[in-house]
Amino acid sequence: MLGMPGLLFLFLLTLFVPVCCLAQDETGVQDEGKVLIVYYSRTNHTHLVAQKLAERFNADLERLNDKRKRSGPIGYARAGKDAIAGNTTELEPLVHDPQEYDIILIGTPTWASHMTPAVRTFILENDLSGKTIGLFGVCQFSGVKDTLNEVAQLIGRGKNRKLPLLPLRQNQLKGKGLDDKIDAFYLEVQESRR
Ligand SMILES: Cc1cc2nc3c(=O)[nH]c(=O)nc-3n(C[C@H](O)[C@H](O)[C@H](O)COP(=O)(O)O)c2cc1C
Repeated sequence: MLGMPGLLFLFLLTLFVPVCCLAQDETGVQDEGKVLIVYYSRTNHTHLVAQKLAERFNADLERLNDKRKRSGPIGYARAGKDAIAGNTTELEPLVHDPQEYDIILIGTPTWASHMTPAVRTFILENDLSGKTIGLFGVCQFSGVKDTLNEVAQLIGRGKNRKLPLLPLRQNQLKGKGLDDKIDAFYLEVQESRR
């Protein structure tokens, strides 16, 4: 026989177990982590993707501002030269602290098949160890996969530790096709956390 103390213990246990489970999974949705989207965009194509990702991931947006002039023919030429040379740049201070986030999605346009100096600078100036990372990028015609592989290498998660990637061409930014790709990327990022 359990006796009074034993019965009381069992009674309390029946109350405690459901409460405990609810605390873990209050809404039936698993904890998906706090997400920051960090990206550079010169002519807003990458910005458009970043906004769509922010809706899907319920994320904060951090647009990198390059202090160097990247507009006009001279800005364009220097942009390509800096990207090829792997140059860094000077960024405006960040609004969000990446250390407060679990998942960081990094986006860059392709410049001569390379990442932009702004994104290179962000990666070199911030400690991304322990973060779940996903990469997205936009090119006009080709080179975006090489660009994202270069970013993965720089983060130190190249060949052997594949990161979720969302490489896009400009003509893929319209319509339901992009939503489907973003859904697949979302699942890939969540899967990479397990
Ligand atoms: C300096 C420079 C170099 C570029 N190099 C490439 C390239 O190698 N391949 C490509 O398909 N597009 C290239 N582009 C085009 C951009 O990748 C494309 O327009 C992209 O959508 C721009 O993104 P954004 O609007 O977010 O700045 C280049 C653009 C610039 C400014």
